[in-house]
Amino acid sequence: MAFRIAQISDTHLSERHPGFTANFDALAAHLRADAPDLVVNTGDLSAHGELAGDDLAFAREKHEALGLDWLAIPGNHDVGNDPALGGPTPADAARLARWHGIMGADRFRRDLPGWRLIGLNTLITGTDLPQNEEQFAFLEEALATAGGRAIGLFLHKPLCEETIAETEITYWAVQPRPRRRILEPLARHPATFIASGHVHQWRDRGAPEGLRQVWAPAAAFIVGDAWQHRLGAKPVGYVEHLLHEDGRHECRLVEPEGMRCHDLGLMPGIYPAMEPVVA
Ligand SMILES: [Fe+2]
Ligand SMILES: [Fe+2]
Repeated sequence: MAFRIAQISDTHLSERHPGFTANFDALAAHLRADAPDLVVNTGDLSAHGELAGDDLAFAREKHEALGLDWLAIPGNHDVGNDPALGGPTPADAARLARWHGIMGADRFRRDLPGWRLIGLNTLITGTDLPQNEEQFAFLEEALATAGGRAIGLFLHKPLCEETIAETEITYWAVQPRPRRRILEPLARHPATFIASGHVHQWRDRGAPEGLRQVWAPAAAFIVGDAWQHRLGAKPVGYVEHLLHEDGRHECRLVEPEGMRCHDLGLMPGIYPAMEPVVA
């Protein structure tokens, strides 16, 4: 029997946003009935955790109420964003400490039959926080000691938008320098798949450049084409990963009944207004 992981992402939970909570509740009902072996949330659990702790506490409560084994890594709305982007809420020591206090660890390592799962906090990878160096050492060690296990890596931001050689600093992907630092030990111990969230788009293009990168759709909302380029598809839902003991991996998009495809562009007041995309 394969081990089944439900990778959920971008739940953006807050008591102030009932539409997002309703989507989580529909997802939760589906997951309770489906009973995967593990739920992994790849970040942005909360809507405004980068500003205060109440949304993080609410998100934790909602995840505990799943009644399922679950793990999470933070997103930019949980611990702040890459400082290189110059926004008002950079990932810093205070935001990271708030996550630790409410949610616990911001990275994970979990062994399953034939597999090692590794989850990283991608938001600190461009900071000079001591936890950043600790995390790179953790990654190196987790890969080096995996033995013959297949590796599944979980991130909030995807490693790249189109190609690992891209040099632009963008909102949507891990910055080029930390991307190289993540890829360096992976060259010696390749991952079978890299699963991420953040873009609010579903994408699975096989393994261009030798990397199977799977993007989970958001649970809370999409960003319509007027405000965000389409790099994949824009449903709401989650990704089911099947991990076979012999190292084979399969995954698929699941769109549970009752989840509504909210377009953030049409919901002013939740986040600062977005710039329309230039064609
Ligand atoms: Fe998000
Ligand atoms: Fe995000």
